[in-house]
Amino acid sequence: AQSAKESLYIVSQYASAFFVKQLWDTDEGRGIGLSYFKERGFREDILKKFEVGYSPDVWDALTQSATNGGHKLEFLEATGLSIKNDNGKIYDRFRGRVMFPIHNFTGRIIGFGGRTLKTDKNVPKYVNSPESEIYHKSNVLYGLFHAKKAIRDLDNCYLAEGYADVLSVHQAGIENVVASSGTSLTVEQIKLIGRFTQNITILFDGDAAGIKASLRGLDMILEEGLNVKIVSFPDGHDPDSYMHHVGAGAFKTYLEQNRKDFILYKANVLLKDAGNDPIKRAGIIRDIVESIAKIPDQIKASVFIRECSSLLEIDEHILLGELNKMRSAKV
Ligand code: CTP
Ligand code: MN
Ligand code: MN
Ligand code: MN
Ligand code: MN
Repeated sequence: AQSAKESLYIVSQYASAFFVKQLWDTDEGRGIGLSYFKERGFREDILKKFEVGYSPDVWDALTQSATNGGHKLEFLEATGLSIKNDNGKIYDRFRGRVMFPIHNFTGRIIGFGGRTLKTDKNVPKYVNSPESEIYHKSNVLYGLFHAKKAIRDLDNCYLAEGYADVLSVHQAGIENVVASSGTSLTVEQIKLIGRFTQNITILFDGDAAGIKASLRGLDMILEEGLNVKIVSFPDGHDPDSYMHHVGAGAFKTYLEQNRKDFILYKANVLLKDAGNDPIKRAGIIRDIVESIAKIPDQIKASVFIRECSSLLEIDEHILLGELNKMRSAKV
């Protein structure tokens, strides 16, 4: 008999094929789902590559189809695709949404993100699969299966926030991109990237939340001993919107020309609020040295100390003194 885990993979694969078929082969799917993707500027080959789909706006379309096909309700419930309410009525988790299947890095489908098509602020923009025996969201990077070869070949991984960002960056011809999607970046996700490359380039959204997340992310990446760079986007843009705004060619050039190392990035972000206030500037310098103190490799750390010293015009020995104080305070 097949294991329960295997049954969860199988029912997830069934659901994905169901959503794909709904998107391409039904009037509702084409009229609502496919035209939504087209309006956002996605090409068909990208939609097919990532196996996006559409969940009909009906209570139990998937549950009905799957159980009629011989799939057990038990497994539909265990993946969170079907939900039983307090009255024992079964309904679909995903209804009237465009669907992004989430693959593990061997390519099996383990969960879904479903985006609403409504602009109503009271409707959650994304509904995601819950944790299950096959889906542990803190250990998963969206897009890794489609990116891993390019990450290895190019020895760099672009890290974005969302599903649409991954698709759009691919559409620009850049395949070494993944998203943390729906969780703030975890150590497990960084270690997963570390199996393929030691170099991460953060592409978070150009809003306050994205900047905050990038500062946190870069410290975590440094602490894991990986190298980190950052490309930031004009306020209000994320990689997806910016790619469609400027076009594939200009987007690629933008990534190449706006890649900053973390010191320059932090200095830019932090100095913006500090102006010429010397006390604030001192705080920023400490903040940057704190990031450098997270780097396990001492030689690398000393190179960044030198960069920090020349960028902020502070004596290198003073910075080294701070660094050593922070390091010894840590242990
Ligand atoms: N997210 C989520 N639930 C939400 C909002 C966001 O799980 N209610 C996750 C999704 O994985 C989303 C990512 O966080 O892709 C980034 O969020 P956001 O920037 O708000 O969405 P976008 O990816 O930009 O979505 P879109 O472009 O479709 O508006
Ligand atoms: Mn697949
Ligand atoms: Mn965002
Ligand atoms: Mn976004
Ligand atoms: Mn977006």
